[in-house]
Amino acid sequence: MTGKLIVFEGGEGTGKTTQIRLLAAALDHDVLVTRQPGGTSLGQTLRGLLLDSPPGSISDRAEALLYAADRAQHVDEVIRPALTAGTTVISDRWVDSSLAYQAAGRGMDPAWVAELSRWATAGVQPDLTVLLDIDPAVGLARAARRGAADRLEAETLDFHHRVRWAYLRLAAANPSRYLVVDAALPVDAIAHLVHAYVFQITADRKAAA
Ligand SMILES: Nc1ncnc2c1ncn2[C@@H]1O[C@H](COP(=O)(O)OP(=O)(O)OP(=O)(O)O)[C@@H](O)[C@H]1O
Ligand SMILES: [Mg+2]
Repeated sequence: MTGKLIVFEGGEGTGKTTQIRLLAAALDHDVLVTRQPGGTSLGQTLRGLLLDSPPGSISDRAEALLYAADRAQHVDEVIRPALTAGTTVISDRWVDSSLAYQAAGRGMDPAWVAELSRWATAGVQPDLTVLLDIDPAVGLARAARRGAADRLEAETLDFHHRVRWAYLRLAAANPSRYLVVDAALPVDAIAHLVHAYVFQITADRKAAA
């Protein structure tokens, strides 16, 4: 596979969608913007179930499996063909979301969630994960301005703190594959940091090729 997979991760309202739009516009080559859940037709249906079902209506194990099903379809139908064609793929969320939300947030066994995710993605891994990090109270307030809270936004603040620390631990365990950015910075400042980093690793890769 020759294309690069760049993933944006972070809690609610950290600015993932905002920054993905800006990065896609700044890259001058072929770019595919997609998301989990919801990057395929099946994924759209699963996203509706996962985000809009009433609180308590999906068991933890069923939730983990629905996210895995979304990922399997996404990799088979969209991600792998795009990477094989040399396209740069930018995804709004990836496996780290399950490690943060299902494992750290819900308390499921992280080894089990990691194994399920590995199976679902069939070994496809991001070349870079941009982690947008912010105090969850600030992120949730931003997300709330968009309207009614979805099933995950409606979780306790404690849940969202566990999600935040899980993300930071994942980044700390593999620093060369993560860019952690303070999401409290202004939109333009974050974009500047992200673009400089992405351009640099793209250039590094070209130099190394
Ligand atoms: N750096 C920033 N400073 C202030 N406000 C921001 C910043 N980045 C994004 N916002 C605003 O915060 C809100 C949430 O941003 P956005 O939708 O990009 O976040 P998100 O991480 O995609 O959220 P979700 O996880 O709910 O999809 C939007 O109203 C956006 O305009
Ligand atoms: Mg978003």
